[in-house]
Amino acid sequence: MIDLKEKTAVVTGAGQGIGRDIVLALGRRGADVAVIDVNLETAEETVSLLEKSGSKGLALRCDIADYSKVQDCVKEILGWREQIHFLINNAGITRDNLLLRMGEDEWKKVIDINLTGTFNMTKVVSKHMFKKRFGRIVSIASVIGQMGNAGQSNYAASKAGIIGFSKSVAKEFAPRNVTVNAIAPGFIETAMTSVLPEEVQEGMRRMIPLGKFGTGEDVANIVLFLVSELGSYVTGQVINCDGGMVMS
Ligand SMILES: NC(=O)c1ccc[n+]([C@@H]2O[C@H](COP(=O)([O-])OP(=O)(O)OC[C@H]3O[C@@H](n4cnc5c(N)ncnc54)[C@H](O)[C@@H]3O)[C@@H](O)[C@H]2O)c1
Repeated sequence: MIDLKEKTAVVTGAGQGIGRDIVLALGRRGADVAVIDVNLETAEETVSLLEKSGSKGLALRCDIADYSKVQDCVKEILGWREQIHFLINNAGITRDNLLLRMGEDEWKKVIDINLTGTFNMTKVVSKHMFKKRFGRIVSIASVIGQMGNAGQSNYAASKAGIIGFSKSVAKEFAPRNVTVNAIAPGFIETAMTSVLPEEVQEGMRRMIPLGKFGTGEDVANIVLFLVSELGSYVTGQVINCDGGMVMS
């Protein structure tokens, strides 16, 4: 049984979807969690659900694309808890369009939140992890960053960027006992995917050897492994959570 008592986690984009499931999974194992989202109301709802498991939570409104806001937010978390043990970079968005129709704003917004947001959070939190000589960083990438997808060049670039970024900082951070890994989910049932037309969903299902979509809990289970003692010798890896969609 994974025991995360006395540990503090930070999860971004945790007001709903996969992020919320990660928070609740960490909480059930005893971790306290700072719940970050641009939407304070949903972050507070996540904290209420978390506190039912007996763990403590702190809801924070923060746009992770804004470096100075991230600095303020992490300062507030460190006023709440002395140490941040785990950082889960989960917040992400899509602005799908074919490249020829894609506006610069659609490109920039996705890169700013998905990739620069991951950079901002990792840079600010890791400084503190170094001092404590302990840290577990897990970033949520996507199979789209590995295989590409028509209409998602901005999203694919941001997620492939997260993979390259994670491998590079894993090498930099290893001497400080800070591991850095990425998870590449396939098709997970959340608000992000429920908007896709039924025929697109059916087409995706046919590409999945296990024949079904994943859940936020499937992704959260891999997070639990990576932050716990069980995953302490794993760094610089991308773990797919996709029902076998991508086999490399
Ligand atoms: N759902 C899937 O099938 C799937 C597949 C692969 C990867 N992913 C990735 O998993 C992560 C979570 O996906 P989801 O389906 O739960 O998405 P979601 O849209 O349900 O939730 C994303 C959350 O991030 C928050 N957010 C958006 N911009 C933010 C910002 N600038 N700062 C802070 N928070 C912000 C949103 O308010 C929302 O609560 C994303 O990175 C996504 O790319 C999802």
